[in-house]
Amino acid sequence: MPDIELTEGATRPDTAADLAEIETEARARIGAAASLSELEEAEREAIGKRSRFSASYQQIGRLEPSERKEAGRHLHELRTRLEAAAGAKRSTLTAAARAERLAADRMDLTEAPGGPLAGHLHLVTQIREELEDVFVGMGYEIAEGPEVESDWYNFQALNVPLDHPARSSVDTFFVEAGEPETILLRTHTSPVQIHLLERGQLPIYAVVPGRVYRRDTPDATHLPVFHQIEGLVVDHGVSFGDLAGTIDTFVHAIFGAEVRTRLRPGYFPFTEPSAEFEISCMICHGAGCRTCAQTGWIELGGCGMVNPAVFEAAGVDAEEWTGFAFGFGIDRLAIMRHGIADLRLFIENDVRFLQQF
Ligand code: PHE
Repeated sequence: MPDIELTEGATRPDTAADLAEIETEARARIGAAASLSELEEAEREAIGKRSRFSASYQQIGRLEPSERKEAGRHLHELRTRLEAAAGAKRSTLTAAARAERLAADRMDLTEAPGGPLAGHLHLVTQIREELEDVFVGMGYEIAEGPEVESDWYNFQALNVPLDHPARSSVDTFFVEAGEPETILLRTHTSPVQIHLLERGQLPIYAVVPGRVYRRDTPDATHLPVFHQIEGLVVDHGVSFGDLAGTIDTFVHAIFGAEVRTRLRPGYFPFTEPSAEFEISCMICHGAGCRTCAQTGWIELGGCGMVNPAVFEAAGVDAEEWTGFAFGFGIDRLAIMRHGIADLRLFIENDVRFLQQF
């Protein structure tokens, strides 16, 4: 560095004027630094070992002893001022670098490529709403009932015998209230049939979607909390043909016109006769595959003509009124329509799954 050569070669120590020049130059460099590394470089040049400033320090020894103290003080003050200037510059640069980093990292969470970054309804809710729309289109009302029920509504009024396995605590969540095993989490939406009948407003054309509970360990095909939709129609002269036609209509609306339905004899205490309704397998179109256990058909739910015993329990004249009821799992319908392998995906809240629907 030319400055150093010059100073080292000099025989005369720096004067006050020289120090002012050193200061002006150093301040200019510090001020011009555009980055932290440039600032470091400027500092090194201004007050580092090989700087003109350091050389001045070394020259103090050549001064008259009487002058040394004051010269030393001047240099010390100069160093303090330059360090302060560098410190101030460092804060400015650090703040700017931070602001720049924040600007670069900034994410606009109000807009996503596909539109506003908002959530959407869960697949099960979407299907529930689709089903509601189909039935509203057929003139049905949407009804709801309590999830905590008494044994009467969930079993007795529905003609479920006392020794029926569903009544045991192996299958049912009982609530600790009242007499033991009398208050429970409903195991199906059928108890709402009783509430609707008790209302005493006939005829009835209603569907009842809702949560139901069974003491199952979660696996690919079971969840302890799942969703059903119940249908109840009570009118004069309702026939089994009306039931079959209704099932056919909503299955076509949900699965498409090419899917077929069929009824097979079944048993439910609250319907007589009872049937299980099945749809043609949408994976193999009826040819037989693993999903349908080679039968070509998949069971969707239960149905039947309202058992007169149920009318009686709810105070409806079984001589005058006839009706049908059906019920099926919404979650099950969803996994079949979309070919979902495991029911547990519905409750794991993994956006990679949820986003697909
Ligand atoms: N409640 C029955 C079940 O949970 C389904 C059903 C409803 C059957 C209405 C017949 C009539 O399996």
